[in-house]
Amino acid sequence: MKLSLRIALLMAVFIWGCTIFQNNKNKKKDQDWRFYGGSEGGDRYSPLSQINLKNVKNLQLAWTYNTGENGEMQTQPIVVNGIFYGVTSTMKLFALDPVTGKELWKFDPKAATAKRLQNHAIRGVNYWEEGDDKRIIYSAGTSIFAVNAITGQQIKSFGDNGEADLYEGLDKAILGYDPRGAFYRNTSPGAVFKDLFIIGSSMSEGPDAPPGYIKAYNIKTGKLAWVFHTIPLPGEYGYETWSKDSYKKLGGANSWAGIVIDEKRGVVYASTGSAATDFYGGARIGQNLFANCVIALDALTGKRVWHYQLVHHDLWDKDLPQPPVLLTVKRNGKPVEAVAQATKDGKLFIFNRDTGEPLFDVKETPVPVAPALPGEQPWPTQPVPVKPAPFTMQTLTEDNITDRTPESRAYVLERFQNSITGSNYQPPSLKGSLYFGFGGGAEYGGSAADPNGILYVNGNNMLWWQIMRQNPTMQTRGSILYNTNCVACHGDGKTAAVGDGSQSIPSLAEVGKRLSATQINEVLENGRGRMPSFGHLSKENRQSLVNYLLRTEQVSYMVSTSSTDAKYVPPFLSNGTQQFRDKEGYPAMKAPWGVLNAVDMNTGDYLWQVPLGEYPALTEKGVAPTGTENHGGPVVTAGGLLFIAATYDQNLRAFDTKTGKVVWQYKLPFGAVATPITYMKDGKQYVAIAAGGGKYGMARGSSYLCFALPSKK
Ligand code: HEC
Repeated sequence: MKLSLRIALLMAVFIWGCTIFQNNKNKKKDQDWRFYGGSEGGDRYSPLSQINLKNVKNLQLAWTYNTGENGEMQTQPIVVNGIFYGVTSTMKLFALDPVTGKELWKFDPKAATAKRLQNHAIRGVNYWEEGDDKRIIYSAGTSIFAVNAITGQQIKSFGDNGEADLYEGLDKAILGYDPRGAFYRNTSPGAVFKDLFIIGSSMSEGPDAPPGYIKAYNIKTGKLAWVFHTIPLPGEYGYETWSKDSYKKLGGANSWAGIVIDEKRGVVYASTGSAATDFYGGARIGQNLFANCVIALDALTGKRVWHYQLVHHDLWDKDLPQPPVLLTVKRNGKPVEAVAQATKDGKLFIFNRDTGEPLFDVKETPVPVAPALPGEQPWPTQPVPVKPAPFTMQTLTEDNITDRTPESRAYVLERFQNSITGSNYQPPSLKGSLYFGFGGGAEYGGSAADPNGILYVNGNNMLWWQIMRQNPTMQTRGSILYNTNCVACHGDGKTAAVGDGSQSIPSLAEVGKRLSATQINEVLENGRGRMPSFGHLSKENRQSLVNYLLRTEQVSYMVSTSSTDAKYVPPFLSNGTQQFRDKEGYPAMKAPWGVLNAVDMNTGDYLWQVPLGEYPALTEKGVAPTGTENHGGPVVTAGGLLFIAATYDQNLRAFDTKTGKVVWQYKLPFGAVATPITYMKDGKQYVAIAAGGGKYGMARGSSYLCFALPSKK
């Protein structure tokens, strides 16, 4: 009796122990993808290795979720507490069973607000919880929503009846104009720290752009908690790096690519974009802090800890195109917690996370400052790290111009010879220049970093054609005076043509070669022969005319002739950001056109660089993979694999992280310009990605696809 009782007890304990062990094992095995970017530091790394080099060839489709819409999706979903959250192309939030892809609920922000929300890319969402209060928080249009993560219901106690206002913190009293109505939204997820939702914004980058402040909202109340002025107000650090009162006139300097957080330090790391207007900086003379910066802010207060500017006085739309990546590298045998940043022009910077000091020297390198547009003052140096080497092409030369066909080479050569080329820091001009790096280089999909300090970054080698023209609604005082008083006789003084065709009235196109400023002033004051006197004009106006004829007028004093009430009207406009390709639409230089890189950030040396993607039409002709333009980032796993889609050919690929070899690929039904994720549920590892096509003229689609290894029979 006694013995059997003992045995029974022992057995009970044993079974109980087993259950605990079993539970632990399952818990340990389940692995969420809790953050946009995989971790709070955005390293896009997963410790999962069930899918690995040996078995990846067996990877197969596990489920597809149809959003019921057709449109580009840049979303990297998250998986939290075993629920899969994603966003559709019209900004609807949805929750899925991560094993089956079965929809649990869907939330439509447009149905949850009285505002009219315009569709835009939503690259991901954030998760927050306190006890049973579990929330998904994300911004759509000009609102921020908090949604119950279990039920999909809008949380009405958040903000104003369930939504917070994205315009908050843009204060009319400070700015001097009402920013409401300006194109303003937030496309990349923010960071969550305690009860704070810390976000950036995205805007037009034109003259109507509001300033791109970084802001924190309280997740419980929806109230604004702090604002960091990326365009400083008077008295704030960096104010002197702009023309006076820039904060009232200009916008941008926004963090659109996302924000990461170091919870242990309580510091957020954000990367910012260029200041408006993109290609003309005559109204913002100076370095323009905190545009184009990696910036570390105290997550609780928004106070600046440090910053590092990667482009001074940006004239090229060189936004930092992806969030920083937190990683650990070794220096002199010791681990250093660092933050890395990849740029549109293919540079890689790495900083000490505490001090902002670069881990590889950064040289302030002289760059061309001429020819520059009137009123422009290009910054004379730009920061270039001595290591690692850039991961994209830097300079177009005759050598690397395409030789795909003789015709395409001739076409590109012609443009090359008639443009300003050489430096990617050539100031924009009326003649036109060819550049790399207006678009990434690195792109919004982000980079991945593994625990060994290896950074994986995909890049684009696209060439851009940029030409400026005078803003037709803008004239200088001199040109207005000229058009009113002189054009009837002298014609368009800028060209050799003479207005009335009479040979006896000289063209003033090159008058500066014949007469000095004093001599022109004399003619104006006293007249000469049939040339009437303009002594009745004020001295200033006569001087403006002289400056106009000699082309020495300060364009920053231009006045608008349109009745626009815009806060700033740039005197020069760009042709936009135009890729320059050959006539058949292929890139203008030799391949590779898209690349994937593994860079050892401990040493700054490359482990490998391989082409990313292919043009099937060229492959058919026997051309080796050229790589293609690519949008969407990599995910790296402990299984020795890197997953990435992003290319024209619509494949999701797995690369061997050691060699850069493609070890698996799957043709998606639609192109995926998003970053994949990987997670483990019920002991099984999955890889999922949003495939909505859209970019590069790809067909539009509606699918989230998920892959896993076949179940053992
Ligand atoms: C009624 C016609 C007429 C108007 C209006 C006129 N000009 Fe002239 N301008 C002339 C003629 C004719 C000459 C040649 C004078 C001469 O015989 O040397 C001349 C000569 C000049 C010259 C000297 C050119 C040279 O190469 O030596 C300048 C400079 C000039 N004009 C500037 C102006 C400006 C600036 C205005 C407007 C504020 C203006 N003119 C308006 C008819 C005109």
